[in-house]
Amino acid sequence: MGVARAKTQARRPVPRFVISVDIKVLKLLFREGVEVPGVQLWMKGQGKTMDNDTLTITDNRTKQTYTIPIYRGTVHATDLRQIKTDPGDFGLMTYDPAFMNTASCHSAITYLDGDKGILRYRGYPIEQLAEKCTFLEVAYLLLNGELPTAHQLELWSGEVMSHTMTHENVKKFMDGFHHDAHPMGVLISTVAALSTFYPDARNVTDADCRRRQVVRLIGKMPTLAAYAYRHRLGMPYVYPDPELSYTKNYMNMLWKRTEPKYAANPVLSHALEVLFILHADHEQNCSTSAMRAVGSSHADPFVTTAAAIAALSGPLHGGANEEVLRMLDEIGSKDHISEFIKHVKSGERKLMGFGHRVYKNYDPRARIVKQVAEEVFEVTGRNPKIDIALDLERIALSDEYFIKRRLYPNVDFYSGIIYQAMGFTPDQFTVLFGIPRTVGWLAQWQEMMQDPDTKIARPRQVYVGEEARDFVPITLRDRELASA
Ligand code: ACO
Repeated sequence: MGVARAKTQARRPVPRFVISVDIKVLKLLFREGVEVPGVQLWMKGQGKTMDNDTLTITDNRTKQTYTIPIYRGTVHATDLRQIKTDPGDFGLMTYDPAFMNTASCHSAITYLDGDKGILRYRGYPIEQLAEKCTFLEVAYLLLNGELPTAHQLELWSGEVMSHTMTHENVKKFMDGFHHDAHPMGVLISTVAALSTFYPDARNVTDADCRRRQVVRLIGKMPTLAAYAYRHRLGMPYVYPDPELSYTKNYMNMLWKRTEPKYAANPVLSHALEVLFILHADHEQNCSTSAMRAVGSSHADPFVTTAAAIAALSGPLHGGANEEVLRMLDEIGSKDHISEFIKHVKSGERKLMGFGHRVYKNYDPRARIVKQVAEEVFEVTGRNPKIDIALDLERIALSDEYFIKRRLYPNVDFYSGIIYQAMGFTPDQFTVLFGIPRTVGWLAQWQEMMQDPDTKIARPRQVYVGEEARDFVPITLRDRELASA
């Protein structure tokens, strides 16, 4: 984890007051040498390196030697372009199809050390935030860089809650979905559709405009999710209640029936707050990378967020929480665990909710989720799947296959069991991931939009197809095939 180590060594000072500056203005100020506290310092930091922080490479094809600067544990891939066999050569590229060892951006939002099992938002350990904060407090932190004062939190919560309402037409197209439409498909579509209600959102280079869309998205996400939930059950939609907290309002929209006032269980709403905090950001994962890649084209934040939700829905990413429950159902009882593990080890199956690209030690979020599960079961009664899951974890963690590959439970392993105990069906689980992760996506999008290094994401490829060849008329193609 060279990049992660370098980050701790040379962390840039976080400005006391985080200001949103238009990227064009920022670049102009930088060119003109105007001092903007914090920002200027960071931009200067983008410059190369000290003299001895270099990498010397000898190209054995040409015997030529190159010296490339190292910056915060990384070399710039474009610096390799000077390595050529002849002047007509395009230059050396790196090949990294899954971004296994490629830093795609600078970020000051989330720090994680996969070897040590550390996760921090803006420097604060996830354990402390989960214990002491509300979700909207953490959302403020992720977006602004600092925890809010009591007054700031009051203003921020009021602002988000005042944006929970959606246009009435949203209900009409929600009604158009089939009763068994997957909630993630519904969420992707309705979030994208919000773009048509807010044409101003296209003005992505305007900092004030960007902020307006951020609040709209965070406010409306639970409303869309709850509408999708009730549509499925054939129940009338419940309008948001801005007097309630973020999670209690969500629970009200989900579960209010004929009672005059729905009272959310405080243990369950607290559990949701904690789960939302744990899911709020996780640096450059698949969906966040999708958010940054799509956002880099200056698409509006609604369609960009829809793309991130689509990435999240996959079973190798956020969709794993749903798959874990299906897997536990299939295993059925503790007696069948050994048989299931055999199938995993032979490569026929995957142990869903296990393994992580970055965590090669215990996922710190899984540890907290396990504690929350016990609190929730005090209210809902014990979900019997927890016992299968605990045994599955115990058996897997003592098995050479999992030890050798450093496979541990990830955040998705236990979260679904809690959600099911609370009354959600498995196809809702990934939606419960998407609501809080919207904050992280938007914080990362904002950061990208203000980063002077940002350009449209456009990877290179290694072409392995046919060389140039002449067109064959359709009447001659049979003959060509026959002679091949
Ligand atoms: N069950 C069984 N074997 C596994 C698992 C698993 N869950 N995860 C990884 N492995 C094995 C692989 O088969 C591979 O074995 P090999 O070396 O013999 O070929 C080895 O461990 C390394 O795995 P990779 O697939 O190379 O790891 P990668 O970093 O590419 O994948 C991923 C990470 C996608 C999370 C993977 O562990 C996985 O599919 N897990 C199950 C799905 C899941 O829980 N996803 C949620 C992740 S957390 C999140 O996104 C919120």
